[in-house]
Amino acid sequence: MSTTQGTTPAIEFRDVVKRFGDNVVLDGLSFSVAKGDRVTLIGPSGSGKTTILRLLMTLEESDGGLILIDGDPYTHEYRGQKRVEVPEKRRRVVRNRVGMVFQQFNLFPNMTVLENIIEAPVHVLKQPKGEAIARAEQLLEQVGMSDKRDFRTNQLSGGQQQRVAIARALAMDPEILLLDEVTSALDPEIVADVLGVLREIAETTDITMLLVTHEMQFARDVSNRVLMFDHGHIIEEAHPETMFTNPTHERTQEFLKAVLG
Ligand SMILES: Nc1ncnc2c1ncn2[C@@H]1O[C@H](COP(=O)(O)OP(=O)(O)OP(=O)(O)O)[C@@H](O)[C@H]1O
Ligand SMILES: [Mg+2]
Repeated sequence: MSTTQGTTPAIEFRDVVKRFGDNVVLDGLSFSVAKGDRVTLIGPSGSGKTTILRLLMTLEESDGGLILIDGDPYTHEYRGQKRVEVPEKRRRVVRNRVGMVFQQFNLFPNMTVLENIIEAPVHVLKQPKGEAIARAEQLLEQVGMSDKRDFRTNQLSGGQQQRVAIARALAMDPEILLLDEVTSALDPEIVADVLGVLREIAETTDITMLLVTHEMQFARDVSNRVLMFDHGHIIEEAHPETMFTNPTHERTQEFLKAVLG
């Protein structure tokens, strides 16, 4: 293990298949994300971007192939030729290393901001409550939400809720952070605040990030790789500068023309 550790990807999809009934969303998808990488997924609506992130949160089950986290099979593994499920106990250990922020904030509405943030550290990671609170307060400071510590989350604006959701994900000290269009439900004037918080996280941590966004400037600022995704396959990948100014694939050109206007 030790000799390959430096090169073991944080995330690897190996021939991953995902179907919803007859709808084959991922048709043998393979890609990997190196440790500390910031990768943006772009592609048309319905192409499977959210599905990829949901598979990584085990909110969906794959139908074929392997997902590896740090080189370890995550939800399924092969025993000889046979594809079998990884036992829940082992899955859970890996899942705790992955955090996600969704388009809809998914906070617990009947809890306060602080309670939302310490919930998983205390109940899942078994952190002492005092320690979890201290860390939560530090994170609230970082996302500019200290003054809302004891508010219920349904008393907050969308942008504020999203900042709490980011703090909540970070409270688990994830090695991998998944961000699914985190600003698309927000009013334009508060998008910049949320993106600013994420930009700072990108600059000050080495968390591996896999993000889906239509904010091309944000993708440019934080990511070092963009994957263009269509019909369950990656059809082009490039550095953001290249992808957004000089895409080679016709499908990417059309897509970016539509998105960038
Ligand atoms: N729970 C589900 N049940 C059935 N079909 C689903 C489910 N979730 C997703 N799909 C289908 O899978 C395909 C991919 O959906 P997905 O949400 O991953 O797309 P996306 O690339 O994130 O799109 P968007 O840019 O609009 O968010 C779509 O055809 C969608 O209808
Ligand atoms: Mg989506």
